[in-house]
Amino acid sequence: MYTKVIKINQEHIDKAVLEEAADWIKRKELVAFPTETVYGLGANGLDPEASAKIYAAKGRPSDNPLILHISDMDELEPLVQEIPGAARKAAEAFWPGPMTMILKKSEIVPLETTGGLSTVAIRMPDHPIARALIRESGCPIAAPSANTSGKPSPTRAEHVFEDMNGRIPCILDGGMVGIGIESTIIDFSEKKPVILRPGFITPKMFEEVIGMPVAIDPAVMGGGAKGIAPKAPGMKYKHYAPKAELVLVSGEEGKVISYINRKVTEAHRKGERIGVIATDETADRYQGDVVLSIGTKSCDSTIAYHLYDVLRRFDHEEVDMIYSQVFETGENGFAIMNRLTKAAGYERIEV
Ligand code: TXA
Ligand code: MG
Repeated sequence: MYTKVIKINQEHIDKAVLEEAADWIKRKELVAFPTETVYGLGANGLDPEASAKIYAAKGRPSDNPLILHISDMDELEPLVQEIPGAARKAAEAFWPGPMTMILKKSEIVPLETTGGLSTVAIRMPDHPIARALIRESGCPIAAPSANTSGKPSPTRAEHVFEDMNGRIPCILDGGMVGIGIESTIIDFSEKKPVILRPGFITPKMFEEVIGMPVAIDPAVMGGGAKGIAPKAPGMKYKHYAPKAELVLVSGEEGKVISYINRKVTEAHRKGERIGVIATDETADRYQGDVVLSIGTKSCDSTIAYHLYDVLRRFDHEEVDMIYSQVFETGENGFAIMNRLTKAAGYERIEV
């Protein structure tokens, strides 16, 4: 299949391009599009045949449900059985935006979209191209991140092309996304709200808005390793991984840098090449063969923003191993480490 990449400007959305993309969706085909978090791989979420194509293109296990994307609050009600008060408050505060809610699904949502579950994940993205595409298509758009299953999520159209060329008819190229990691997922389908995947909207932000404590699914930070089944089926799969093995090193910064530099020296004796994930502050202190800065520690949203791009850039470098310091502090530390920890297969070295 020929994959057409169409540049589209979010400030002046070209009507003809939008209609062409929506036409693919109406014909049960797939369109990749930018959202403010990562690129999504979209199809009509109420059509089992269209959803099935998403699973095939990504190589995604069929028990891993999809998120339905809506463009307006009115579109929520028909998709769910009820909207609990806390969910309504969260939607008012964080939509459009990087929040996905799990609610009990209505009859019209096919089990093919929800991986057989009686609940459905819903998000109203805050990206003009995503919203316009949903509106023009006239249906909720089911969209996982537009990567091949197991690979880092795409934050640029080029990443989508790497994974989806030949598999889908259309990629809308709206440039680099704004946040860089996927939405926070919060489950409102049971009495107590539970965060299933951390993201830009933090537990504290939810608690302030809904006025009740928010739990965190114990599987979020390494449950996979301990055999705890996560509530979001997708969180159990290996994820976000670059081709080379990634090793996380935590401890006092000076010690971490010395440790990694020692490992680089050892690797060089064996003729191996080493990649290092550094920050703007530490980059020139590392002796790796390929040292990539992920952002600045003084503003950790820059780290979230570059995370997947950096992981993917190592796939284009011939490195045998990648070392990274950890980024636990700051507002986004929880969400960043959730992704990095999984990418590293839950392994970490303390120095
Ligand atoms: O930011 C995002 O959320 C991006 C953009 C494109 O919107 N989408 C995204 O989708 O990250 P995906 O499919 O890569 O991740 C969705 C996660 C998976 O871990 C899936 O298992 C979980 O949401 N999920 C979906 N429906 C669920 C449900 N009914 N109950 C529990 N988890 C669910
Ligand atoms: Mg994904």
